[in-house]
Amino acid sequence: MNIVSEILCALWFILPAYAANAFPPLMKGKIPIDRGKKLGKYRILGDGKTVEGTLGGIAFGIFIGLTQIFFQSKIPRSMGLVEMTLPLILALSIGALTGDIIGSFIKRRLGIERGRPAPLLDQLDFLALAILFSSLLTRIKILHIFLLIILTPIIHYSANILGYLLRIKRVPY
Ligand code: CTP
Ligand code: MG
Repeated sequence: MNIVSEILCALWFILPAYAANAFPPLMKGKIPIDRGKKLGKYRILGDGKTVEGTLGGIAFGIFIGLTQIFFQSKIPRSMGLVEMTLPLILALSIGALTGDIIGSFIKRRLGIERGRPAPLLDQLDFLALAILFSSLLTRIKILHIFLLIILTPIIHYSANILGYLLRIKRVPY
């Protein structure tokens, strides 16, 4: 297999997690998960992690995953795509939002304010937990994990600039 098809396979697999992670800003959520509570000097999570954003993100990840399940029978087996299943898309979507929330928790403990950048943590937190959760259900190629660690920050950064230009996101990172 060549590298382009390996990249396509990796992106196919992670797509529900990307979708789940990208959707929350569109929800314009109001209810913070931490209900405004602090842990020591700083908020537990901050106003950037809302109930609406979390549920909306998970729902959108599942929607994209269901779309993949619908179309996968039409894609030739020779492509070697990971077979998407309901448990797998749940693990990817819930994993992505869990990772994003853990990322914010870590940022607050380090004293980084809500919305301020934490390079690599911001881009890889959701990926780490999406891979961890889904690895309990399916074998993930090491090459795919490697490709995703390299590609995700690049894709995340480009998508955030687009979101900023479209006024979906407040800051371009
Ligand atoms: N968002 C949300 N609920 C989530 C995740 C994100 O409502 N679980 C929304 C918030 O409006 C958030 C925006 O999506 O501001 C962008 O998400 P993100 O960059 O992850 O949050 P930040 O505001 O940067 O906050 P943090 O510093 O905690 O990462
Ligand atoms: Mg952010």
